[in-house]
Amino acid sequence: MNSDSMALVVNDLEVEYRTKGRARVRAVAGVSLQVGRGEIVGLVGESGCGKSTVAKAVVGIERPAAGEVLYRGARVTPISRIGKRPKNQRNLQMVFQEPASSLNPRRSIGSQVADALKFATDLPQAKHEERVRELLDMVGLPKNAHRAYPHQFSGGQKQRACIARALAADPEVLVADEAISSLDASAQAQIADLLVGLVKKLDIGLLFISHDLAVIGEICDRIAVMYLGKIVELGRPEQIWFEPRHPYARALMRSVPRIGRDSFPESLEGEVPDPANPPSGCRFNTRCPFVMDKCRVQEPALIDVEQEDGGTVACWLQEPGAVVDLDTLATEREVASA
Ligand SMILES: Nc1ncnc2c1ncn2[C@@H]1O[C@H](COP(=O)(O)OP(=O)(O)O)[C@@H](O)[C@H]1O
Ligand SMILES: [Mg+2]
Repeated sequence: MNSDSMALVVNDLEVEYRTKGRARVRAVAGVSLQVGRGEIVGLVGESGCGKSTVAKAVVGIERPAAGEVLYRGARVTPISRIGKRPKNQRNLQMVFQEPASSLNPRRSIGSQVADALKFATDLPQAKHEERVRELLDMVGLPKNAHRAYPHQFSGGQKQRACIARALAADPEVLVADEAISSLDASAQAQIADLLVGLVKKLDIGLLFISHDLAVIGEICDRIAVMYLGKIVELGRPEQIWFEPRHPYARALMRSVPRIGRDSFPESLEGEVPDPANPPSGCRFNTRCPFVMDKCRVQEPALIDVEQEDGGTVACWLQEPGAVVDLDTLATEREVASA
C-alpha cells in the first residue's frame, strides 16, 4: 500500500525514558507501522514490551528520541507544545484503559464531549448540543445521556462516552490503548463491536492496542506483535494466529487457550529481559526454543516474507520466499512444547 494514502505512519520510532540514577530505557527501539482509513491494526505483546509508549508517542504525549510519526502526512508535534499544534492534528485521539479516570466526575458527559468539539473543530457553538446528542447516539448511549454524570454510568457506558468524546474531534485515526481491558467480558465484546462498526461507518483508522490476543485476532485487519521494544512480526490475523513465523509470535499464540486444543502456557517460559539491558543479537534469543548461534550475535531485521500477504518477520530462520514452518521445524528438532 502507498504510504501517502495512510492516515498514520510510524517510521523507525524510538522512545527513551530516563530513570533516576539508572541507564536510559529504550522502551521503543525502532518501530514502523502504518494505519489506513477503515483499517484496524492491532498491537500486541506482553506487559512492558512498549505498547503504551508507542501509543503515547503517536498522539504526542511522549517525544520520539528518533524516528517520526506522521498524521495526515505531517509530523506530529509533541503535546507539550499543543498550542502550536496545527489544528488539523488536534483531532488525533486516544482512548485509554480506565474510562473512569479519563472522565471528569464533576461535569456532565455532554459538556465533556462538547469540550472536544471546541478544542478540535470549527463547528459553531450553536450546533454543539445537537452534535453532542448525535455522537452519544452513535456510540449507543441512551437519550439524555448528555445530562448524566460519569458515576451514573457503567464501565462500558463510560468507555462509550470516552469514544464519543474522541470522535467529537473528527479524527482520521483513533488510538485505543487497552480500551476494553478493564471491562467485564460482555462489555468487552460490546465495545469491541462498537469500535469495529465505527471504523467501517466513519472510515477512520484504529490502532488497537491490547495484550489480549483473542480480541486482537478477532477484530484486526493486521496485527503487529511486539517484543521488548520491537515489532517481531506483522501480518494478517489468520496468518499470525495459525501460522506465526516468529518463534515469539508462535509462543504467544500457543499461550492462548482455544476450544478443542490445550494451551501451551509453558511455551512462554522465562522472564522478559530488562529493556534497560536487552540481550545482544535477537532480543528473543534468551527465550527462543529455536535459538541458533547467530541469533546471540546479530540482530535480524524485519523482512517481507511473501509478497502476496504482505507479512513481515524479524527472524534468522526466515528468508524471503523460503519461509520455514515452525511446527515442522519443532517436530524435527523435538522442541514442540519447549
Ligand atoms: N514513565 C516511565 N519512566 C521510565 N520507564 C518507563 C516509563 N513508562 C514505561 N516505562 C518502561 O518502558 C517499558 C515499556 O512500557 P510500556 O510502554 O508501558 O509497555 P506496555 O504498554 O507494553 O505494557 C517498560 O519497561 C516500562 O517499565
Ligand atoms: Mg500498556
